[in-house]
Amino acid sequence: MTAPRVVLGVSGGIAAYKACELLRRLTESGHQVTVVPTAAALHFVGEATWAALSGRPAATETWESVHEVPHVRIGQNADLVVVAPATADLMAKAAHGLADDLLTNTLLTARCPVVFAPAMHTEMWEHPATQENVATLRRRGAIVLDPAEGRLTGKDTGKGRLPEPSEIFEACRRVLARGDLAQDLAGRHVVVSAGGTREPLDPVRFLGNRSSGKQGYALAATAAARGARVTLLSANAELPDPAGVDVVRVSTALQLRDAALKAVVDADVVVMAAAVADFRPAEYVTGKIKKVDGVDPAPVALVRNPDILAEISAHRARPGQLVVGFAAETDDVLANGRAKLARKGCDLLVVNEVGDSKAFGLDTNAAVVLAADGAEVHIPDGPKENLADAVWDQVAARLR
Ligand code: CTP
Repeated sequence: MTAPRVVLGVSGGIAAYKACELLRRLTESGHQVTVVPTAAALHFVGEATWAALSGRPAATETWESVHEVPHVRIGQNADLVVVAPATADLMAKAAHGLADDLLTNTLLTARCPVVFAPAMHTEMWEHPATQENVATLRRRGAIVLDPAEGRLTGKDTGKGRLPEPSEIFEACRRVLARGDLAQDLAGRHVVVSAGGTREPLDPVRFLGNRSSGKQGYALAATAAARGARVTLLSANAELPDPAGVDVVRVSTALQLRDAALKAVVDADVVVMAAAVADFRPAEYVTGKIKKVDGVDPAPVALVRNPDILAEISAHRARPGQLVVGFAAETDDVLANGRAKLARKGCDLLVVNEVGDSKAFGLDTNAAVVLAADGAEVHIPDGPKENLADAVWDQVAARLR
C-alpha cells in the first residue's frame, strides 16, 4: 500500500509549535507529509524543523521550482490537506478563494478532504466575519474542527485554543479512512470493557491473562470520536486515558461485574471487549504463600466467575439496549461463533480468528462480526481503530 499523502498547512499563529507534534504523529504512522508553512508560520517555527520532522523539504515558495508547477501539483496530489493552526486570516482567504501564497493556492487546487484546526483569540473566533467564513468553508464540505477552550497566548483564557495534536491526528485518520467525521453515536451512552481481569491468590500473586486492552481502548476512543458519551471499564490496562472518555478502573472479574452492572443502567450499547477470567482461586490467602522444603505445594482450587456478558444480555437494563461480545476461536470459527452468540444471548459477537494459519503474536486483527439477526460481516486485517469503527458501523445501523 502506498503511504497516504498528507499536506500539512501551517499558518502564522503561536500554536504552530504544536503542529510539530501532529507532524511527528502523521509521519510515524506511515503518512507521507509535505509541510506548507506560510511566511508568517516561519516566524514561529523554522523551515529546518519542518524538513527534519517530515523527512522532505518544506514547500514554502510559489516561485521556486516553477517548472514543477508547485502551486497546483501539491494540492492535486494530496489525499488530505490539514491546516493546523488555521488562523482567522487563513480561513478568511480560503473562504474567499484568495491565492496569494503557496498554501492558499494548494487549498484552491485540492480535490481531497480538507481539515482546518483553528487557533486564535476568542474575540477573533467569535467575530461575525470569522463565523461566516467558517460557515462558508463547512457548507462547501471542508471540515472545520471546533477550537478548544483554555489558556491562550498571554494571560487570556477562553475558546480559541488549537485542539490537541492527538485530536487533530485522530480527525485526520478518520477522514482518510472514512471521508468524514460522522457523529452517528451522538446522544448515546456506550459502555466498553477493556483489558484483562486479575484474580488474586495471595497479596503478591494473581491469575491473569495477556490482554493489553488496546482493542477496548480503540473502541472507546472511536465511539467518543463518533459523538458518544463513553464509560470505559478498564481492567489492568496500562494505556493512557482516551480523550473525553470516563474511565473506571477495576481489577477482578467480580469488580468488573459490579462496575458493569452500575454503568449499563442507562447505556444504549454495552461492548464486552475485556478478557474476563472464567475462574478465580476459591480461597484468597491473606498472607504470602511460603514454600516449605520437602513439602509439595497444595493444589489451587478454582471456582467459576459469573458470566457478565450473559447476565447483561439476559437482563437488559433498558429496552433496545444493544449488547456486543468478543470471542477468540481457533477452529470452526463461524459455527463456534454462532453457538457462542446464542449461548451468551448478545446481539453481536466479534469473533477473532486465531490459530496456526495466522501468525501467532502478530497484531493481526481479522475478525468476523456475527449478528443475532443472521448478518455476518468480515473485517480484513488492519489497525484496531478500523475494527472498532467497523463494530460501531454495525451498532449504529441497529440503533437507527
Ligand atoms: N465474558 C464475560 N464474563 C466471563 C467470561 C467472558 O462477560 N466470565 C465475556 C467476554 O468479555 C467476551 C466474551 O464473554 O465478550 C468471551 O467469551 P469467552 O470467554 O470466549 O466465552 P466462553 O463462553 O468462556 O467460551 P470458551 O469456552 O471458548 O472459553
